[in-house]
Amino acid sequence: MSSAAAEVMTVPRFRRLKGRRRLTMLTAYDFPTARVVDQAGVDAILVGDSLGMVVQGHSDTLAVSWEQMLYHAELVGRAVKRALVIVDIPFPLAHLEPAEVLRHAAQALKLPGVSAVKLEGGAELVPVVQRLVQAGVPVMGHCGLRPQSVHRLGGYRVERDAQQVLEDALALEQAGAFALVLECLASSIAAEVTKRVAIPTIGIGAGPHCDGQVLVLHDLLGLTPGPVPKFARAYAHLAEVILQAVQQYCRDVQQGTYPGKEHSFD
Ligand code: KIV
Repeated sequence: MSSAAAEVMTVPRFRRLKGRRRLTMLTAYDFPTARVVDQAGVDAILVGDSLGMVVQGHSDTLAVSWEQMLYHAELVGRAVKRALVIVDIPFPLAHLEPAEVLRHAAQALKLPGVSAVKLEGGAELVPVVQRLVQAGVPVMGHCGLRPQSVHRLGGYRVERDAQQVLEDALALEQAGAFALVLECLASSIAAEVTKRVAIPTIGIGAGPHCDGQVLVLHDLLGLTPGPVPKFARAYAHLAEVILQAVQQYCRDVQQGTYPGKEHSFD
């Protein structure tokens, strides 16, 4: 890890890094993986509602409850020493009254290690973002493809409405968001948004011109069951590693080569 990455990441520092260097963000949902991801030097860790798909095995993120988010946020917050920890607000909480959203967001911020929340949505969330920011809750926006709207959209589609995305991004910035996730956008739209806003844009399936990138950890590690999105790159194939390790363990137990003397007490 470089000495710059070793510094504790705060919301103002994350924001200031726009245009200075590229920002890295990954999801994590539990203590051991969050610890390793933090040690590796990632700038921000998102406790994403993607856990509904990659941890709980659902086909979308809609089933995830706030109590489950808080549970995973607590595990991650306890592990992280340096990265900025951001907690996703799951469906449909972001669309409640601002005071209600604030009540929930405050529960996340009371957890050790947690510094911000992420809200999925566009300009319609301005009153909520303003209320949270006024109360001292840093908010990361999330525009472009909104997985929580999968049923309205009829599937996970690349967002190509440049005008809509730009309006959403500018409105969220104006409302006080400190950064924006841009998901599944034509690269040219992400490039334009990145140029027009003064806050960092963190892309996922939004091309190379964002200020930073985020991936779902299970996609990066090769642990996602089923097909991964086109934009994901697997840097490891852990499902295969785990399969082989467990098969070897079963063979060793069956053949009596484990446990050996060195694993036994006199
Ligand atoms: O829930 C999640 O993991 C996310 C990322 C895909 C940005 O929102």
